[in-house]
Amino acid sequence: MSNLFERSSIKSLELENRAIRSATWSAVCDQKGYVTDRAIEFYGNLASGGIGLIVTGFQYVMANSVAMPFQMGNYRDDMTDGLGRFAKAVHSKGGKIMAQLAHAGSRANPDLFMEEGELWGPSAVPEPGTGRVPKEMTREEIIAAVAAFASAASRVKTAGFDGVQIHGAHGYGINQFLSGITNRRKDEYGGDISRRYRFLGEVLEAVRGAVGKDYPVFIKLSGSDNYEGGLVLEESLYVARRLEEDGIDCIEVSAGSRGVPSGLVPSMPNILKEEDEAYLAEMALSFKETVKVPIVTVGGIRSPNVVSRVLSGGFADYVALCRPLIREPHLINRWKNGDTEKSTCISCNGCFETGLSGLGVVCKLDLDLKEK
Ligand SMILES: Cc1cc2nc3c(=O)[nH]c(=O)nc-3n(C[C@H](O)[C@H](O)[C@H](O)COP(=O)(O)O)c2cc1C
Ligand code: SF4
Repeated sequence: MSNLFERSSIKSLELENRAIRSATWSAVCDQKGYVTDRAIEFYGNLASGGIGLIVTGFQYVMANSVAMPFQMGNYRDDMTDGLGRFAKAVHSKGGKIMAQLAHAGSRANPDLFMEEGELWGPSAVPEPGTGRVPKEMTREEIIAAVAAFASAASRVKTAGFDGVQIHGAHGYGINQFLSGITNRRKDEYGGDISRRYRFLGEVLEAVRGAVGKDYPVFIKLSGSDNYEGGLVLEESLYVARRLEEDGIDCIEVSAGSRGVPSGLVPSMPNILKEEDEAYLAEMALSFKETVKVPIVTVGGIRSPNVVSRVLSGGFADYVALCRPLIREPHLINRWKNGDTEKSTCISCNGCFETGLSGLGVVCKLDLDLKEK
C-alpha cells in the first residue's frame, strides 16, 4: 500500500497521498445553497480523516441549476464569505479542498428553484432520467452559463480553496452538451464531437481566465454515457485530448448517469467482492494511454489491495472514493494506522435517501442501527 501514501503535486496543490474524496453532494447547506455550520462541521470531520484532497459536492453556478435539496450554491457574490469560512475550516484540520462546479442543465429540479428560472438544456429533448423537457438554450444563455462558471471559479479562488473541478459527468449540463443524445443542436455547439466540445471548451477557457494559469483546474468527465446514441469512449478520449491542449490539469474518469436503462450508473450498487471493485479502472487506463495529464479513477474502490493494484498497475495516478468516506470519514487514517481491512460500505446507496430526507448524506446503516 506504500504507493497510496506517496506524496505528489499538481501545480500549487501538494497532496499527502493518492486518495481523493470524489465530489459528493452532502445535503448540508441551506435551501438557497449557503454554507451552514453543519456543512463546516461535516467537512471538518472529513478533513481530519487523512484524505489527500476533498472535492466538494457539486456547487450550482446559477439559480436555475440546482439539482438536489440542500446542495451547495455558488451563484451570488455574497456566498463567498461562507465559502471562505468553509475552506478555512478544512485547512485548519489539515485538509485540502477543491470546489466542484456544475450547471445541471435539464437535470436541474425546478421544484427547488428559489428564484424565477427556466429549465435549460442544449436541446429541447426529454432528459433521460426525469423525462423533463428543457428549453433549448439561446446563444445569450450559453454565454451567461459560461460566465457563471467563471464567476463561481473566481469566488472559489477568493474564498481560499485549493482548486476547482468542472463537473463534466453524470448527465449534467456539460455532459448534455457533449452527448449526442441530449445535444441535437444545428448551430456551432452541435454536430460531431469537435462541435459538441465547444461549450466545455468555452467553460474551461473562462474558468482559466478567472483563476489564472497556475491555479489547479480539474475535470470529472464521463468516459461513456453507456446508452445508445450517447457519448462513447472514443468521443470522450477526443474530449480529453482537447482538454489537455486547452490546459486542464487533471481528469477524473467516471461514467454513466442515473436513470439510464443500461444499468451503468456512477454509484454502482453491491460492490461486495474484490473483483467487482474499481469498476472504471480499465476506462481510466484508456485515458492514461491517451493523455499525459494525471488521471483519477473513481468507482467501487473499497480495499487497500485494489488501490495498490490500480496505482502500481498504472491504471491511474490517483484513486477517488465517495461512499466509503460517507460510511467511514476517517478510512484513510485507519488504513494508514495499520488496520487494512476493506471499507465497511456495502454500496447499498441508502445514503442518497438520508440526504433527500434532510438528515444530510450519512450512512443509512448507522441510522438503522440507532433506530433499533
Ligand atoms: C450521496 C452521493 C452524492 C454524490 N454527489 C456527487 C456530486 O456532487 N458530484 C459528482 O461528480 N459525483 C457525485 N456522486 C458520485 C460519486 O462521486 C462517485 O463518482 C460514485 O459514487 C462512485 O464512487 P464510489 O463507489 O466510491 O461511491 C455522488 C454519489 C453519492 C453516493
Ligand atoms: S448507506 Fe452506507 S453502506 Fe450504503 S452505500 Fe451509503 S455509505 Fe455505503
